[in-house]
Amino acid sequence: MANRRTFLKTSLAALPLLAAQNTEAAERVVRYKKPVVVSTWDSGIRANEAAWKVLKAGGAAIDSVEQASRSAEAEASCCVGLDAFPDRDGFVTLDASIMDHRSNCGSVVFLQNIKHPISVARKLMESTKHVVLAGDGALQFAIENGFERMPSKLSADAEKEWKEWLKKSEYKPMMNIENRKPVSQNSLSAPNTFDDGSVNHDTMGTIALDADGNLSGACTTSGMAFKMHGRVGDSPIVGAGLFVDNKVGAATSSGVGEEVIRICGTHTIIELMRFGYSPKKACSEAVKRIVERDPKAAKDFQVGFIAISKLGDVGAYSIQPGFSYSVTNSATNATLKA
Ligand code: GLY
Repeated sequence: MANRRTFLKTSLAALPLLAAQNTEAAERVVRYKKPVVVSTWDSGIRANEAAWKVLKAGGAAIDSVEQASRSAEAEASCCVGLDAFPDRDGFVTLDASIMDHRSNCGSVVFLQNIKHPISVARKLMESTKHVVLAGDGALQFAIENGFERMPSKLSADAEKEWKEWLKKSEYKPMMNIENRKPVSQNSLSAPNTFDDGSVNHDTMGTIALDADGNLSGACTTSGMAFKMHGRVGDSPIVGAGLFVDNKVGAATSSGVGEEVIRICGTHTIIELMRFGYSPKKACSEAVKRIVERDPKAAKDFQVGFIAISKLGDVGAYSIQPGFSYSVTNSATNATLKA
């Protein structure tokens, strides 16, 4: 019968095997000096700038990732904040989550009329015993805590796109807004510029390692454009769109949330890193699991992951080419390709 000693012996014996798998491809692991912040997409460079102001002053990772999300939420974009594209019924519904180095976390789902859902998620995390608030309850909590209720008005761009979509799409939600073909998939200057001239990004996910060596993450999105009313993706689901374990690392995702939820994407990545995988290898393994489930379907959607380790090793991987991420520390402020 297996006793504790046998169990430990067996488990420890497996570790070199996992480490060996990790070194198979002789990957050059990229390590960044702390503090460092990483965000999804080339537009993450602007989010990183907001985070970097906090980190370079010696601030905490949790404050930096909140500022990154707020910066994205304040921008006009297709995919984050109140100016983003609506659901198929014409409502902008927002999801956000935040997690700190003590595994405190907070998330809001299906939140309407609030400019900064990430700050509502943080308020929930810090002032209540709950982790997730949804819909009207989240809105009520936000208003009770001093967040301004904004008018229900689509931005001019969002209204135009939605009306166009209603004509063409026969009331079926589009699976992936990223799927339009980028003009230049290899260009770092315009990695996400589409053949119709629009500039796009998906969920804004940010992960940071501060000067004290603490990790945090935040994730904010309006979700899939023209989704069914009430649909929630991976971004506000801890372990799917965002996960932090201060002993190991932090990870976040972008792309089709349903696929990320099915494999508990970011939790999977952190568990692989715990057993010796580099951030990049762990992200690629998570992508592989998604693709293996349905290789044919995976040709038509995007999922991208970014991850950082406790030591500042950074990696990313996506199904389709064109996924970029931004890294900022005292030595760099750059957009890279996964
Ligand atoms: N990744 C964002 C979403 O699927 O809602």
